[in-house]
Amino acid sequence: MVNNIEVIKMTKEHLDSVMVIENLSFKIPWSRSAFIDELTTNQMAIYVVAVSGNEVIGYGGLWKIFDEGHITNIAVHPEFRRCRAGSRIMDKLLEVCELNGVRNLTLEVRKSNLPAIKLYENYGFKAEGVRKGYYSDTGEDALIMWRYQG
Ligand SMILES: CC(C)(COP(=O)(O)OP(=O)(O)OC[C@H]1O[C@@H](n2cnc3c(N)ncnc32)[C@H](O)[C@@H]1OP(=O)(O)O)[C@@H](O)C(=O)NCCC(=O)NCCS
Repeated sequence: MVNNIEVIKMTKEHLDSVMVIENLSFKIPWSRSAFIDELTTNQMAIYVVAVSGNEVIGYGGLWKIFDEGHITNIAVHPEFRRCRAGSRIMDKLLEVCELNGVRNLTLEVRKSNLPAIKLYENYGFKAEGVRKGYYSDTGEDALIMWRYQG
């Protein structure tokens, strides 16, 4: 059980924890410098962290391209999964989209990643296409999911 999850803007001070979660969560993790670029250089990027007490337990981010959003990543520390942190992060990203005039959202997800697909479906995402062999480690396909705001 995780109490009092707060979702706030990601800063460089969060990156030690973010990198631990990133490395535990992905077969092809992003580098620290990739996150630094996102936080300092990429004008389109919006990143948040989920915090419980003083601990960063998850994060997520997107690129805002005019009225379209591309979710780049979302991850929760394995010890804190299934406690709704992922949902809180999605709530915050959708709130940020609303505030910034982002109407339609897209993302790619491994075809076999049922926890993530379920999470996205809960938020109205639907699989609309496939990128064949998208992931270089296993050659797995990516599902392309979209969420439209009419
Ligand atoms: C996907 C992920 C972010 C979900 O985070 P989470 O905090 O565990 O998610 P929540 O507790 O908010 O769960 C929300 C819903 O997601 C789905 N879900 C989450 N984990 C699941 C699992 N292991 N199996 C099936 N459904 C799951 C369920 O529908 C769940 O709702 P429910 O608990 O009412 O059934 C987390 O599993 C994770 O970090 N995975 C590794 C990184 C990753 O693959 N990110 C996605 C990249 S595209």
